[in-house]
Amino acid sequence: MADPQKTIARLRAEIAEHDRLYYKEAQPKIDDQAYDRLKAELAQLEAANPEFDFGAAPSPTQSVGDDRLEAFESYRHRKPMLSLDNTYSSAELIEFGQRLLKRFPEQALTYLVEPKIDGVAVSLSYEDGALVRAVSRGNGIEGDDITSNVRGIRGLPDKIQGAPTVLEVRGEIYMRHQEFERINAARAAEGQALYANPRNLAAGTIKLLDPAEARSRQLDIVLYGIGACEPGNYFSTQSEIQQKLKEWQFPVLEKYWLADDIESAWKCIEELDTLRQNFAYPTDGAVVKLNDFAQQEEAGYTSKAPRWAIAYKFEAERAETLLKEISLQIGRTGAVTPVAILEPVQLAGTTVSRATLHNEDEIQRKDIRPGDTVLVQKAGEIIPQVLSVNLAKRPADSQPFIFGEHLKALGIEAERDPTQAVWRIVSKDDPIRQQRALEHFASRACMDIENLGSAVVEQLVKRGMVQTQADLYTLTEAQLLELDKFAEKSAQNLIAALEASKQRELWQLIHGLGIPHVGKQSAKDLEANFDSLEAIASATEEQLEAVDGIGSIMAQSIHAWFADSDNQSLIQQLKAHGLNFESARQAQADGVLAGKTVVLTGALPTLTRDEATKMIEAAGGRTSSSVSKKTDYVLAGEAAGSKYAKAEKLGIAILDEDEFKQLVG
Ligand code: IVH
Repeated sequence: MADPQKTIARLRAEIAEHDRLYYKEAQPKIDDQAYDRLKAELAQLEAANPEFDFGAAPSPTQSVGDDRLEAFESYRHRKPMLSLDNTYSSAELIEFGQRLLKRFPEQALTYLVEPKIDGVAVSLSYEDGALVRAVSRGNGIEGDDITSNVRGIRGLPDKIQGAPTVLEVRGEIYMRHQEFERINAARAAEGQALYANPRNLAAGTIKLLDPAEARSRQLDIVLYGIGACEPGNYFSTQSEIQQKLKEWQFPVLEKYWLADDIESAWKCIEELDTLRQNFAYPTDGAVVKLNDFAQQEEAGYTSKAPRWAIAYKFEAERAETLLKEISLQIGRTGAVTPVAILEPVQLAGTTVSRATLHNEDEIQRKDIRPGDTVLVQKAGEIIPQVLSVNLAKRPADSQPFIFGEHLKALGIEAERDPTQAVWRIVSKDDPIRQQRALEHFASRACMDIENLGSAVVEQLVKRGMVQTQADLYTLTEAQLLELDKFAEKSAQNLIAALEASKQRELWQLIHGLGIPHVGKQSAKDLEANFDSLEAIASATEEQLEAVDGIGSIMAQSIHAWFADSDNQSLIQQLKAHGLNFESARQAQADGVLAGKTVVLTGALPTLTRDEATKMIEAAGGRTSSSVSKKTDYVLAGEAAGSKYAKAEKLGIAILDEDEFKQLVG
């Protein structure tokens, strides 16, 4: 038999490392269930061998973990933030209830059953009704000051009416599935590592040092508890807390249940399991709490958790299925991402036919091969994952998946990025890469070129009509008529759409260029800090990094992109085609109407008032409703009345629509 002392020491070290990865790095290596199993194993050994005490550092079974980071200031909670004992077994849940019944033999026990939100615990301090600080759980006693990243979370009140003088409100910061998918999709397109689930992404976001970057990701919050409260005696039950939080207009739990015994509590948990898919927040279990505070106090606490509450966690849904093939997908920067194509299988209420494989290293680590029977999991994460291979079912003739060889077999010429686990197509002549780059350029979030979908792009590249983004602007109607399904009308529409795209905002162009690591928000940050594309192109790495929201990796990437001679010539050609290179701010400052005031009067023949106002503002001018000596122009249409007369009297320039259009170009 293994030496229990050694096993205890090994498990303690192992769990401590998993705690660090989960709480401090927000990048756990194992899922919750595997982690909870390790912890249960350790707790059992410790209980059977009480002589191996905790020494200097407490065992991870006796503490709540620690999320504190060097870069943050720490604050002490007025009341400690504890953890919860958890179980995956309904029998253990019932035992929890039976223990409490023994303690309170003559009393009726009412439980509150709440969803357990899979997010990041936070404690909000309100003083005289105003939010003064948000603190992470930390080690339960003191946590990190994350106020600047928490303020402004949607729905979180800055002020509350009729609150006690001092109030700690507790809850969970989380990320909605949709936002999680949006960010991961953007990261996949950049060839960056994906976040495994919304909880990790929320945890990573809340600890970003740059509040602007944090703001570019949408976090949400839900509150369910109270820490300190002065004056006290505000609440006598858990359900009163729920009501009061709602009254104070905090975002609260979508549903909770009162149960008169532990068996009914279990029924509520079963109901929760059927409802939770429709909740806004990721729900990984239920928390069952004694409702009455007097009973809570009497039940008391262990060093890390209350004895009056327990978390029941739902098993992640897993299923075995056949991995038919590993398909390699190419993103806009040429990054190659492996995807498992699966024999469709039912998981967590959806049919799963694809799963992420992250990158070459992940495939190697798990030795995943086409033809394998794999265990697929869909838990808090929306993207299904391949957990492991069932080796007993591996075909005899199975071969390891060699990433590089598969690329070769597909005729894809890619190289592995020395700084990341990602393979990238390096050649700019590669038609697939060209196609992805053009699709991205034309997409909504970039140049928004209508009628230029992937089918059209594919034809343009295959026929050699277009290689780079600049080539799009040389297309003629006659050329387009050669394409499948193109008639005169569709050709004209595409030419018009291309023409219109020349006036897009600068950030749309920056985003569309497909510079590695530069997404929509970074493109906006760049536009906000530079006057033109040329200014960005000639900026030093230091200047780029000085921009709020641009980190060193991005700065390096932008600088390298503009230093490339092919990219330089692309930029010159785009300029020659007349694309807008100026930031909105600079365009206004340079505009013909910069500093000028224009008064609109009468009905214009073609422009609406809104359109005219937008054009005036784009040219740097402002509009005013009355004519005075300070008016520079009057834009007059049909039936212009007294304003027209007044302008004539004051000798102010009067323009009709044509003259106005000529003026603003
Ligand atoms: S009550 C002393 N209620 O789960 C009791 N916790 O695994 C403290 N959690 O630290 C917590 N949903 O961050 C409570 N409805 C809920 C919860 C909840 C999620 C988190 C919380 C806690 C952790 C324990």
